[in-house]
Amino acid sequence: MTKMTDSQTFWAGVPRDIACVAVIGAGAMGGGIAAQFANAGVKVILLDMPGGDGAAPDAPAQAGLARQVRIQGFTGTSGPARVVTGNTSDDLHLLAEADWIVEAIVERLDIKRALYARIDAIRKPGSIVSSNTSTLLHSQLIAGMSDAFRREFLISHFFNPPRLMPLLEIVSTPETDPALLARAQRGAAQVLGKTVINCRDTPGFVANRIGCFWMAAAALLARQHGLTVEEADAVHQAMGIPKTGVFGLFDLIGIDLVPQVWRSLVDGLPETDRFRRYDIAADPMFQTLVAQGRFGRKSGGGFFRKGEKGIEASDLGDQGWRPTRAVAARDLPGGGKDPGALLSDPGRYGEYARAVLSEVVAYAAEHGPDIAADPADLDAGMQLGYAWRQGPFTLADRWGLDRVVAHLESQAIPVPPLLAQAAANGGFYDKGRFLTGAAASDGGATPLTAAALRAQGAPILGNQAATLLDAGDGIGLLEIHTKMNAISPEVLDVIEQVLPLLGTRLQGLVIGNDDPRAFSAGADLGFILSLIQGGNADQFSHFVERGQKLYLGLRYAPVPVVAAVHGFVLGGGCELALHADRIVAHAETRFGLPEVLVGLIPAWGGCTSLLARGLQQGLSPEDAAMRAARIIFGAAQSGSAEQALETGILSPSDRLVMNRDLLLTEARALVLQMIRQGYTPPNCLDVTSVDGLDLSTLAADGSDYDRQVLAGLSRVLGGSDTRTDAGNMAVEHRVLFDLVARPETQARMEHMLRTGKPLRN
Ligand code: NAI
Repeated sequence: MTKMTDSQTFWAGVPRDIACVAVIGAGAMGGGIAAQFANAGVKVILLDMPGGDGAAPDAPAQAGLARQVRIQGFTGTSGPARVVTGNTSDDLHLLAEADWIVEAIVERLDIKRALYARIDAIRKPGSIVSSNTSTLLHSQLIAGMSDAFRREFLISHFFNPPRLMPLLEIVSTPETDPALLARAQRGAAQVLGKTVINCRDTPGFVANRIGCFWMAAAALLARQHGLTVEEADAVHQAMGIPKTGVFGLFDLIGIDLVPQVWRSLVDGLPETDRFRRYDIAADPMFQTLVAQGRFGRKSGGGFFRKGEKGIEASDLGDQGWRPTRAVAARDLPGGGKDPGALLSDPGRYGEYARAVLSEVVAYAAEHGPDIAADPADLDAGMQLGYAWRQGPFTLADRWGLDRVVAHLESQAIPVPPLLAQAAANGGFYDKGRFLTGAAASDGGATPLTAAALRAQGAPILGNQAATLLDAGDGIGLLEIHTKMNAISPEVLDVIEQVLPLLGTRLQGLVIGNDDPRAFSAGADLGFILSLIQGGNADQFSHFVERGQKLYLGLRYAPVPVVAAVHGFVLGGGCELALHADRIVAHAETRFGLPEVLVGLIPAWGGCTSLLARGLQQGLSPEDAAMRAARIIFGAAQSGSAEQALETGILSPSDRLVMNRDLLLTEARALVLQMIRQGYTPPNCLDVTSVDGLDLSTLAADGSDYDRQVLAGLSRVLGGSDTRTDAGNMAVEHRVLFDLVARPETQARMEHMLRTGKPLRN
């Protein structure tokens, strides 16, 4: 067994009512689920079959763990140490400690049920037991089990890979203990970071029921409409569906799944279900592909394959190969970017798009109320489970429900009541709210978003680049909203206006946004280069100085400032976060200071803040400087928040948040907590006194110019004097100014802007 190493406060924000989890089955899913719990700081017991033939008793579970390390199921190096491995013959007693037991073994009803009987004899009362089954029904799994087991059993259907796929389907029945269900939903959201869809006990649950129907209908309708596989996939891409479309997706997941997954789904549905019209498992084309072992990417080809001269495609119903004929976006209605234009197009692409979407919308509207607690979740299921940009109901609204209804009537497809009702209301949605069907699903508090604050009232101040919103209780939310939330002079204008409000109108500040991609990608490189090459070096100098002054203003503000970060947190955006009192970071955050890639150094206090953080953590001045230099000169992006903690960008006092949607809520709660605890601003920091700092080993393989950049960095991180942070930032400024005037730096910047890749001149 491995020792727990969970003393750091970094994980302190993750709720602790699920403190220990057991996962049984260490395969693709069980291993990934175990890793994701461990990523959240939870202790995990991972059991599989006993190792055979002289292998260690926990060899299969260990192999599952090792696989997760290899495929990056873990966000950092601490996770594996939280996982205790064992086997189901010798170690089942360990389950007595578990608050949640997840079964992820082979998809066989008899084997799962036999295991449940053993689990039930050991588990503690009130523990959650759940199955990751994808095809079996809840009612089948619990038949004949004890009353307590029946009340405390759920299906928790994860998507692969469990670390990254945001969706978790939870299936319960009216028998399920509501408090236990709520605990599982909370755990799924706050500990695992998932978006939960509450499903009823029906075959395929929600996402796969609609997703598999769509794939089957889209494939057979493409043949009926005489489209090539490339054309069908391009039409789907134009509707906001990933570029694999439908045939590329069959190849990706494996056509060998058709006889299992589609067969079992169709067989579980009533005779009248429209899925039976698109029974691809009984379709000769699919049967031939399966019989020939043409499963897709895993077997060297399905609908597409890599030929000697490039990718080849196979036409529907024809088993021969030909070179692919890519469909250019400009040849599609609306330039391939506008689902509305595509759906209104009279041509064959429009006809196909209408045929597929009307089938999917009719099916979703017919079954939504029976398969999900809230029919709006069908959109979420297709977005999160199948990566559609918009779900079928939203797409139908874009097309116009009168047109959807007219189209269905013209094809003699019955119009389901939910669709008829939505059409009478003028759409499934009104101002973002789903009109028909159940009210908001689980009654939980609505997470804080910038969009909701904006809808509630006028912003306190702002311009086209950034806005200060009133987040209530005297807390402000500073939202940057430029392209990739880059820091521009206009963003600095807003920070300048925010500073005097801190301690007067505002008692605390959160910096964050709703953007799906970035907290901030840093300063705009094109803008900097245009200033330098346009002979406006003074303006550039002013931009740097002003940023330093304002960032320091945030650091020494009389009230707590918390940065709520996610996605890309790069360059000047990373430096902004480093000036907050605390950083609340989503687990999947990519931090980085990539300045040296363009021949610069971080000069909005990035070097100084990293030094200061190291010293605050008790590193010696040499070690703090060396660690900062490694981060800056390495210019690597962290693969997660935990990796940023390991490299030293984040501190143990920063906070991990597993669920992106809860980021601003958690940041605001932390600000309030800091106020309650009696906030005092940090003391002025003295940062450096490392004489003769030698960083040369870092550039051992680098170019001459790398060594010159490194020499500049040594001036900032070393020196014989002790400086205040502001004093050290003045050195950052001088070094930056020297570097930016150099032709090598300008060549690096131009190359990066032109190619998106670094130039190592
Ligand atoms: P897998 O074959 O990769 O792993 C199953 C693991 O369970 C193996 O390590 C096996 O040794 C172990 N196992 C089998 N019987 C056992 C027993 N009696 N006691 C202890 N361990 C046992 O399978 P995978 O893909 O991880 O699937 C597991 C479950 O998750 C299945 O119910 C599957 O339907 C479901 N699922 C799979 C998804 C996927 O994409 N692979 C997606 C969603 C659900």
